[in-house]
Order: sequence, then structure tokens, then C-alpha cells
Amino acid sequence: MPSPLPYYDPLALVREPAAQLSPAGLYMDLMKRCLTRYGFDDDLTPVEPFPGWRRRLWPVIQRALDHQDWVVHRRLPFQPEYREDGRDWPYRAETMIGLRRLNNLQHCIERVVAEEVPGDLIECGVWRGGAAIFMRAALAALGDADRRVWVADSFQGLPKPNAKHEADRGDQHWTRETLAVPLEEVKRNFARYNLLDQQVRFLQGWFSETLPTAPIEQLAVLRADGDMYGSTIDILSSLYPKLSVGGFCIIDDYGAVPACRAATEDYRSEHGITETIERIDWTGVFWQRQA
Ligand SMILES: C[S@@+](CC[C@H](N)C(=O)[O-])C[C@H]1O[C@@H](n2cnc3c(N)ncnc32)[C@H](O)[C@@H]1O
Repeated sequence: MPSPLPYYDPLALVREPAAQLSPAGLYMDLMKRCLTRYGFDDDLTPVEPFPGWRRRLWPVIQRALDHQDWVVHRRLPFQPEYREDGRDWPYRAETMIGLRRLNNLQHCIERVVAEEVPGDLIECGVWRGGAAIFMRAALAALGDADRRVWVADSFQGLPKPNAKHEADRGDQHWTRETLAVPLEEVKRNFARYNLLDQQVRFLQGWFSETLPTAPIEQLAVLRADGDMYGSTIDILSSLYPKLSVGGFCIIDDYGAVPACRAATEDYRSEHGITETIERIDWTGVFWQRQA
């Protein structure tokens, strides 16, 4: 991405020597490493259905494999810089957003807690739940027992493109089975870290249906990770008005997905949002609401 945007150094947090971190800082550091499997042996990727006409063969192959209880994987050597940047889709890790974007999330949560910016935290588009799990972990680490973490997803992958959004024409995300993670699996992932409790609320369904009527009063951190124009505009339209002044809006796919960038720009210009957009890494951006 060309970079006229200001650059904020999201790795600064993770480069701090352990001895300089508080127990809360160490817990969050450990959570980020676990949730991304950073440096773990997470180097296998399941083979997905072949593209094109060979896709038709896949059910036959899959049945034969299932019969033997086999799974075919490709070995992709672990590349730390990919996991820092959230450029690969990990096999086991609970999040694909990488360390830099988790650091940015930590930065935003620490700021709203320290500055007493009112409101809950939400991630829209959670996949296996990793970033939302980190939200809950950060609240626990910072001793905040009041804010809720909202976890919004279809839990069945992305929608087919809506014809009213030209920018999504031909989008194929809805065909990616690996993006469909059931609600029960996400809950299990929260429970794996002992973080499934009353402070966590799930919103199951398409954003266009759940977000307009979600029982959320106010937000301090709004994290959008919906990969499409339609998903991003649905998130911003329903939730940006609930973001407190001083709160943070984070757009995960701004650099990687032109349609998502277009939705963000359209929403900002339509609503006169002029706060400076700061770059997190090759794709993520954020800004702090000033008015
Ligand atoms: C790239 S994944 C999110 C990655 C995740 N934030 C992480 O920490 O790894 C995108 C997610 O958005 C969800 N999603 C996208 N558009 C949606 C929509 N319109 N309604 C509901 N869920 C949607 C998909 O189901 C998927 O789980």
C-alpha cells in the first residue's frame, strides 16, 4: 500500500524485554503469542478443494480420505514475519490478524481504559475468535469488569455479494469454507483460555440483520473485519454512531481489500469524518474519534 498515512509502530509493544513488562503486560504478551501461535509449530495447512473443473472431483477424494480418517496437509514453513503481519491463514491459531494488529488492539484498549472513554468493545468478523478473545483478556488484565466484549459474526462465513454494492461484484469470499467457523467452536476457543463469561456477548447472523438492533448502548473500540464493501458499510452504518468520542475505530482490511477501503472512504466522506487515518501494518488502519 502506498503510504501517505501516518505510521504508528505497532511492534514497539512486543519488543519490550519481559523484565520491563508488568504482570498484566506479560499476560497480554503471552496471549498474543498463543492466539497467533507465534513461534509455535503451526506450519501445516489443510489442502483446500482444487479450483476449476477439478473441484468436481473433490467430494470423491474427500469421502475416500474421511473413510480412512485422513487429512491432507501442505507443509508451509513457519515464517515469523508473516505471522507478525497477519499475512497467512494459520492452521491452528485462533486469529489470522497477526501480532502488529493485536498490538494495535492492545494499544486502543489500554487507551480507552486509562482515559475512561465509555463503552464496550466489539469485533465484527471474528473467524475463530482470536482478536475478540484478546479483547476479553485485555479487559481482565487491566482489571475492567464493566465493559462487555461483543462478538459479531454469521458463524457461517461471508455472504454472497449484494448487487447493490458494485465494489463487491464477483467477490468470492463466500465460497471459502475455511472462513466459516461455527459459534460453538468460537465459544470453545474462548473457554480454552478460561475467558468465556458474562462479559462476552455473541451476535449471531448477518451484520445487516443483527447490528441495527443489537442491544449495544455505547462503544469504546469498534473493530471491523468483514472483508467486503457490504460488510464494512453495514458495520459502520450501524455502529459508528455508537462510538464514543475518544474511542477507536479499527478497519482490518483497508489495505488488502480495495472494496473495504472504498466502503470506509464512502462512509467517512458521507459523514464528514476527518480524523487522520493511521496505518497499523500493510492492511490495518485505525483512527481515534474526535467529534
Ligand atoms: C477474515 S475473517 C475475520 C478474522 C478475525 N478477525 C481474526 O481475528 O482472525 C472474516 C469474518 O467475517 C465474517 N463476516 C464477513 N462478512 C459478514 C457479514 N456480512 N455478516 C456476518 N459475518 C460476516 C465471516 O464469517 C468471517 O468469520
